[in-house]
Amino acid sequence: MFYPDNNSQSYKLYQRAAQVMPGGVSHNLRFNAPYPVYYKRGRGAYFEDVDGNRFLDFWMGHYANILGHAPDLICRRLAELLADGVMHSGLVSQYEVQLAELVCELVPAAEQVRFCATGTEASMYAVRLARAYTGRDMIIKIEGGWHGANSDLMLAVSNPYDQPESMGLWPELNQYVVPLRFNDSQTAWEIIKKYGDRLAAVIMEPVVGVGGFIPAEPEFLAVIRQETERCGALLIFDEIISGFRVALGGAQELLGVVPDVVLLGKVLGAGLTVAAIAGKKQIMALADFHQQHNKWERVALGGGTYSCNPLAMAAGLQLVGYLKEHRNTVYPRLAAAGDWLRSAIVKAFAGKGVEAVCTGTGSLFMTHFPLQPGLKIKSPYDSNCLTDVHKREKVLKGLLLTKGIYVMHGGGAISTAHTQEDLEKLVAAMEEAAGEMQ
Ligand SMILES: Cc1ncc(COP(=O)(O)O)c(C=O)c1O
Repeated sequence: MFYPDNNSQSYKLYQRAAQVMPGGVSHNLRFNAPYPVYYKRGRGAYFEDVDGNRFLDFWMGHYANILGHAPDLICRRLAELLADGVMHSGLVSQYEVQLAELVCELVPAAEQVRFCATGTEASMYAVRLARAYTGRDMIIKIEGGWHGANSDLMLAVSNPYDQPESMGLWPELNQYVVPLRFNDSQTAWEIIKKYGDRLAAVIMEPVVGVGGFIPAEPEFLAVIRQETERCGALLIFDEIISGFRVALGGAQELLGVVPDVVLLGKVLGAGLTVAAIAGKKQIMALADFHQQHNKWERVALGGGTYSCNPLAMAAGLQLVGYLKEHRNTVYPRLAAAGDWLRSAIVKAFAGKGVEAVCTGTGSLFMTHFPLQPGLKIKSPYDSNCLTDVHKREKVLKGLLLTKGIYVMHGGGAISTAHTQEDLEKLVAAMEEAAGEMQ
């Protein structure tokens, strides 16, 4: 066992970090007790920590690394560009134009794009754009849905949903943002009807990350698409996880429903900082400062120092170009690996007498331990309130770390670098962990 080890470099780094960073980290998810392992480098399905330990990784850079860690394709391109003097410039570059063209070609809802650096920014712009376009104030979001640390949407994110997500938020937020349970078609219909003439947008992940990458049921999506159209509200798909991951065109391609606005990030940046807001031209045009000279007649979208960093744009272009060229192999292969893994995990736990449910779409998977037998997980509420979250987040994660496997939320993302042997290694470790949990 090489973790935990109080003589390790990771342990020592964490002691120092805790002195100079609140909680020792800059992203709470990256902490795990008793201390996080400090990354040194990665290749393919594995990363190495500062103590030289190798971990089989399923976190894959917050699910961004669809080709695994540091794929040659991206490393070579970055090396070429750096050697050529391409770095942050604050100028426009050919790469942003090419990437925007590619996004518009591949993502059904995208007619125009604005790039930014993080998904948090993209979701903040989306709310602003929807309110400006419709002249209305209300937003419906999914209960348990995470759209980044955007103050506009920091409502009903984590259990208990009726408590504030943070100090420092507007107490009035719940006058303007209404949570909706995922896959609850009847309530969707009722609340869209109720807020109809005040409703600016429904924002949702069509494959909801927090609940376990659960796809929206056809009826739920149909009700939301139809009713938002009927009342003149926008439908915003947050595809920051699912974009270029569950299908080349994202969940909107997979599920066959096209939103008005889409948010992209993670895979799009090929491991560098890229996110985007895209949508119909007539909506995105509100950000066009050539058409609207008065600031109060246009929408402020974008403006970040590092937005459209040419290295990040070129990396995204390289990756999305690759995914386009190999779409007929990459996505079916990832989906088959996901299907195999999900059922193998459930069987491994069942073999040890532990009931587990493994949800997911394509290459994304999450393992849950239901509090009541036979639970069907259809929403973040089910996953966060009706399962043993401590077992998933702490016990399973800790046990797998001691076996050299890094998961997040009891699962993660398969990349094209994971082999069948890697998947079997995870299943064997889960089986062992199941025995140790008893
Ligand atoms: C669905 C979704 N939207 C938005 C975000 C925020 O993106 P970022 O972390 O780049 O700010 C995330 C991040 O995990 C996400 O999963």
